[in-house]
Amino acid sequence: MTKRVFIKTYGCQMNVYDSARMADILHPLGYRPADAPEDADMVILNTCHIREKAAEKVYSELGRLHQAKAERQRRGDDMIIAVAGCVAQAEGEEITRRAPYVDIVFGPQTYHRLPEMVARAARAGAAVLDTEFPPESKFDRLPEESAAPGPSAFLTIQEGCDKFCTFCVVPYTRGAEFSRPVDAVVAEARRLVGAGAGEITLLGQNVNAYHGAGPDGAEWRLGALARRLAGIEGLARIRYTTSHPRDMDDDLIAAHGEVPQLMPFLHLPVQSGADRILAAMNRRHGADDYLRLVDRLRAARPDIALSSDFIVGYPGESDADFAATLSLVEAVGFAQAYSFKYSPRPGTPAADEVQVADDVKAVRLDALQAILGQQQDAFNRATVGRTLPVLIERNGRHPGQLVGRSPYNQAVHLTAPPTLIGTIAPVAIGATTAHSLRGTLTGPVADAPNLIAERTPA
Ligand code: SAH
Ligand code: SF4
Ligand code: F3S
Repeated sequence: MTKRVFIKTYGCQMNVYDSARMADILHPLGYRPADAPEDADMVILNTCHIREKAAEKVYSELGRLHQAKAERQRRGDDMIIAVAGCVAQAEGEEITRRAPYVDIVFGPQTYHRLPEMVARAARAGAAVLDTEFPPESKFDRLPEESAAPGPSAFLTIQEGCDKFCTFCVVPYTRGAEFSRPVDAVVAEARRLVGAGAGEITLLGQNVNAYHGAGPDGAEWRLGALARRLAGIEGLARIRYTTSHPRDMDDDLIAAHGEVPQLMPFLHLPVQSGADRILAAMNRRHGADDYLRLVDRLRAARPDIALSSDFIVGYPGESDADFAATLSLVEAVGFAQAYSFKYSPRPGTPAADEVQVADDVKAVRLDALQAILGQQQDAFNRATVGRTLPVLIERNGRHPGQLVGRSPYNQAVHLTAPPTLIGTIAPVAIGATTAHSLRGTLTGPVADAPNLIAERTPA
């Protein structure tokens, strides 16, 4: 009998990957995707705990689901409500106290046990809780992918974190650092490409700390893995995220100049430009180390586009510290960036420090976002007049419109037939809007072969 499942995903791309894998696990039990939570026999919220706002969203969503569940029960149906992901891991039983109608709570490392949990939830009157860090790896227990990946696919190769930045919950919610073996990654990548993916983004909380067991018995780092994956026919583009500056090794930097499939875009969070704050955050590098790293990356791949994350108002951040962040931004020139007000997280060391006032955080965030916005704008405008190879991913919002990505990870809108979805098309960039480019198709289209952009100095 067909049942319906609705999975709502919050947070990072690793949660997006996990949600897809949850659907794979439920597929043999007869679950197919529902269009809306009200139509679903099971709803899974795959949650994020990184900032307070992200975590609080879950409870308001649960309130809405409670009503939908009651409505279904009045009609003689039911709804299993499950909370997964990082809030589930961090708050566990607290969730069932605040929302007693929740049936299942499970963390990021136990979702391979979903079939058992669903069976137990049907029998038990009380909520089923599984937030262990089990000795077995979920990756060894997951079935093969049940749905087509689309032109651009995610592949988790590394999980967890041992770095313990003082502001961050990830080491507690995802657990210790773990890398999947090279052969398992290659096999999954082959399947994704076979099913139509032309681009794969390798995922990990610390993806460039990757050190998976290689087929030769040695530990392989990310540079070696990227070179290996580049040998898969039909895989035109490789990306990876998120990287830590301390784990950018020489071979990975060199790979950016040598592996044409490795896209010229790198998300490399720096958080702050002040050495004092970086030290307090336990980032274990200074502002100069970051600038030197950027120089080395640009020496290897002159047109590489850089992206970052920033936190403003970390405890103790002075005006001078914040000014140092602005100077670093000026010095680098980012193509894109995310920035956040520091949000104290329960159980992390920085949450116990004296906090910066919220209005100060707000002023700093505005100032930072103004500069980052100008830099993104300048970067996008500099591509006007160029022809870029665009991987066409999907239909746009307007009829006849398609959306794809440039090598620099920019969204590109164009008018062209939907048969182009999944191909890499040469697109002449004509204009920019706040967050995307507009272009027109200029010539014949190649599907597998990688049309690397002509390299222009940054
Ligand atoms: N592993 C990545 C980041 C993971 S979290 C790294 O090491 O950089 C994604 C981003 O959320 C972080 O880069 C940081 O900028 C932000 N972030 C994490 N904890 C935060 C907090 N407590 N308050 C505000 N932003 C936070
Ligand atoms: Fe969090 Fe990233 Fe620091 Fe790990 S390295 S603690 S994931 S910010
Ligand atoms: Fe959020 Fe967990 Fe990802 S806290 S950012 S979903 S690792």
